[in-house]
Amino acid sequence: MSGTSTATAPLVGVYAQPELVLARGEGSWVWDEEGRRYLDFTAGIAVNALGHGSPVVAEAIRSALDLGLIHTSNLFCTRPVRELSRLLVDLSFPGKAFFCNSGAEANEAALKFSRKWAGASGAEGKREFLAFRNAFHGRLFGSLATTDRESYQAPFRPLMPGVRFVELGDAAGVEEVLSGGTVAAVFIEPIQGEGGVIPVPFEFLRKLRELCDRYGALLVFDEIQCGLGRTGKLFAHHHAGVTPDIMTLAKPLAGGLPMGAVLVTDEVADALKPGDHGTTFGGGPLVASAALAVVRTVSDPAFLDGVVERSRHLLRGLDALRARVPGIREVRGMGLLLGMVVEGKSADVVARARGEGLLLVGAGPEVVRLIPPLNVSFEELDQGLERLETALS
Ligand SMILES: Cc1ncc(COP(=O)(O)O)c(C=O)c1O
Repeated sequence: MSGTSTATAPLVGVYAQPELVLARGEGSWVWDEEGRRYLDFTAGIAVNALGHGSPVVAEAIRSALDLGLIHTSNLFCTRPVRELSRLLVDLSFPGKAFFCNSGAEANEAALKFSRKWAGASGAEGKREFLAFRNAFHGRLFGSLATTDRESYQAPFRPLMPGVRFVELGDAAGVEEVLSGGTVAAVFIEPIQGEGGVIPVPFEFLRKLRELCDRYGALLVFDEIQCGLGRTGKLFAHHHAGVTPDIMTLAKPLAGGLPMGAVLVTDEVADALKPGDHGTTFGGGPLVASAALAVVRTVSDPAFLDGVVERSRHLLRGLDALRARVPGIREVRGMGLLLGMVVEGKSADVVARARGEGLLLVGAGPEVVRLIPPLNVSFEELDQGLERLETALS
C-alpha cells in the first residue's frame, strides 16, 4: 500500500491519502513535515472559509475557553448557542435551529424531522423522500440512501428504504413522484458539490418550491457545501429567491471545529417534541462560539462582495488558462465553488498539482474542484493559476 497513509499511520484505508503529513497552516497555505509549502485550494473540503489559523476563529475559541465551558450537553442552553440560533434564524428564514456535529448528521436530522412533520400534519402515509441523480448528502444510512453513488451504497445495503431519485431538472418526473402523495420531503443541493460542481438552475429550484407547496412536501436545501458565503451570497438559494422549509449547514460553520445545523420553519419545529431527536455533543458552547464568529464574518455584505470579486478573478484566470493549455474541457460553478472538467482523470491532475505545491480535490472522476478559503488573496489566486498551468502543461 505504498503511496497511501497506511504507510505512515495505522489508519483505516478509507482515504487514499498521499505520503505527505501536514504540520502547520497559515491563511491559504499549509506546510508538510518536510517543510514543503503548499497553496491550499481544498480549504479542508470547503470548511476553512477564513483560512488556516484564522485570528477571528482563534480569538473566538480562546474567549470561549476562558469562560471554562467546552461542553455542557443539550440538557442546558448556553449563551453562544442562544446567540448563534438567533443569528442564523435572522439571516435565513423564520423558524428554529437544531445543532449537531457534521453534515451527514444534519441531513439525518432533516430526514427524521420531515417524517415527524408529515405525521404531525395528518399525512402519516408520507414516509418517502425524493432526491436527485448525482446528489451527495452524506455517508450515514439515511443520508447515504439519498446519495446517488452506486459504489458508495452497494457494499452497505440495506440502506434506509423509501428514497426516489429523479434527474436534476426533470420537473415532470418530480411531479409524477410527488403526486403519489407518499413523499415527506424533497432533498436538493442548490449546487451539487461532490457530484461534480453542478449548479442547479434557479428556475428549477423555484419550480420545486411550487411543486412541494402543491403536493404538501417539505423542500430541504442541503447547503452544507455551497452555503455560508461560498457562492458570494450568504446562502446559495438566495440567488434563486426561493425559501426552503429546512436548510442543512455544516462544513465552514464553526471555522474547522465539527458542527452541523438544521434550520426549520416554525411549522416543522412545532411537530418536534422533547425526545424526538438528540445528540450529546451537538452544538456545544465552544463550537457555537467559533460559529458565531464565522457567521458574523461571512454574512458581512463587504465580505460577500469580496467573494464575488475573487470568483471573477479566478474565473477570468481559468478561462485564459483554458485557452492556453489543453486538458480543461469546461469550468463551472459559482463563487469560490468552482469545478474544472478535465481530460483524463481528475485524480491525476490533483496529484500533478500537488507536485507543483497546489492542493486541489476531485469531485468525481473527471472534475477537479477549486475551493480556496473565501478570504484568499488575489495574488494567491494568481499563484494557484500559475501552479495549475505548470501541472497541466
Ligand atoms: C452537500 C453535502 N452534504 C452533506 C455532506 C456530508 O457532510 P459530512 O462529511 O460533514 O458528514 C457533504 C460533504 O461533503 C456535502 O458536500
